Amino acid sequence: MNAIDHSIVAPLIRGLCMSASKLPRAVIPGAGVSPAPAGCFEIDLTAALKSGALDEEAAAKALTEACDEWKFERAPSGAEASGKAATVILPSCVLVRAGGEEALYWSGADLDEARARRDANDASPWYVAKPAADARSLGSSAIARSSVVANRIALVTGGAQGFGEEIVRGLAASGASVFIADLNLAGAEKLAAELNAERGKTVAIALASNVADEASVEAMFRLIAETAGGLDLCVSNAGVLKAAGVLEQDLAAFKFVTDVNYTGFFIVSKHCGRLMRRQNRTAPQWKTDIVQINSKSGLEGSNKNGAYAGGKFGSIGLVASFALELVEYGIKVNAICPGNFFDGPLWSDPEKGLFIQYLKTGKVPGAKTVADVKAFYEAKVPMKRGCEGADVMRALYYIVEQEYETGQAVPVTGGQVMLH
Ligand SMILES: NC(=O)c1ccc[n+]([C@@H]2O[C@H](COP(=O)([O-])OP(=O)(O)OC[C@H]3O[C@@H](n4cnc5c(N)ncnc54)[C@H](O)[C@@H]3O)[C@@H](O)[C@H]2O)c1
Repeated sequence: MNAIDHSIVAPLIRGLCMSASKLPRAVIPGAGVSPAPAGCFEIDLTAALKSGALDEEAAAKALTEACDEWKFERAPSGAEASGKAATVILPSCVLVRAGGEEALYWSGADLDEARARRDANDASPWYVAKPAADARSLGSSAIARSSVVANRIALVTGGAQGFGEEIVRGLAASGASVFIADLNLAGAEKLAAELNAERGKTVAIALASNVADEASVEAMFRLIAETAGGLDLCVSNAGVLKAAGVLEQDLAAFKFVTDVNYTGFFIVSKHCGRLMRRQNRTAPQWKTDIVQINSKSGLEGSNKNGAYAGGKFGSIGLVASFALELVEYGIKVNAICPGNFFDGPLWSDPEKGLFIQYLKTGKVPGAKTVADVKAFYEAKVPMKRGCEGADVMRALYYIVEQEYETGQAVPVTGGQVMLH
């Protein structure tokens, strides 16, 4: 066991920086530490070791106290002070020692800035704008809604296609750094490469992950902590559908759907919650979000689709329960319940999509073409169209920006499902 575990130390340092600036930061571990670069903040966490491993709480306390002292020693004075009155000082580089080991951590507004500092070995402190006196945290000011995710670190499970891809694209366009986690690694990599090339910087990182497998999910959150220093927004989107009636569905199909849609959300929330709690130890005012992409089928029954609707209804119970438990750590937990995404692959795939399936099985009486089937389903929506990525993004930005709500399910159904 290593005394210094990046997946513990990086989020604690990230929290320290965010607590002072009220802005998100990326924190990355660096190579070689000798000699310590000039200007870095040095700390020995040996006293925070318990049975050879770092105790999160003790390490957080030691880091917070030592950093306050470090900042105090560097506080500008005289003429310099008047020039820097509107700034707070942050370490760009932290040298951590514990149990005979050493590691360096570099911070920046985003991954590329942190990497540039590391590559230039430039450990001079940051002076960033002081947050407004009344700002409780980012998002409490009246800013354009999508900018609430700028520079935030986000994860989208099932991000390679469908709603997940729409959410990844929306977050990247709004300035977030996005981990795209999917069973389909090739698809996630293709999307990440496209977005990074488009923006000329690192905005997306692909990961292979199976949300129904705890070891895979645990490894994913470890990798995120080691790569970016933590996480602000987890969009638990991966989901599957195998429709069948209760009189016919075999148990294996029922369990498969439940494992991904219901149990998978539990597994993701568990390991995400642990990482976000770690960050919260040094950033107690910082709010983070777990958002489940649920469905209108989590709000009303779905004929011959019980496994799916049951998992979605159940997940709303998990959302409300996790929200009660995690509020203590500044973690909000909410669900978005979209209507049907007719333009996504689930419905529109020409070979496997639901439109072609429903046409072939005669589910829509009188329908002769895929367009007829689509028109039938669109007519069920008061707003006469399917749900789109942009509709889900508006709900997501609302949830992140809204600091005074948790444990809710936000419908985005064009009026098809109304709460009562
Ligand atoms: N499409 C719709 O009409 C609709 C409507 C309401 C809600 N939703 C919900 O939106 C979410 C996304 O649905 P979609 O239609 O975009 O799906 P999709 O089938 O188009 O894409 C799902 C993605 O998740 C990945 N995935 C599947 N199982 C996974 C697992 N175990 N671990 C990691 N990744 C996995 C797939 O590889 C795929 O990239 C789901 O939760 C779904 O229930 C969809």
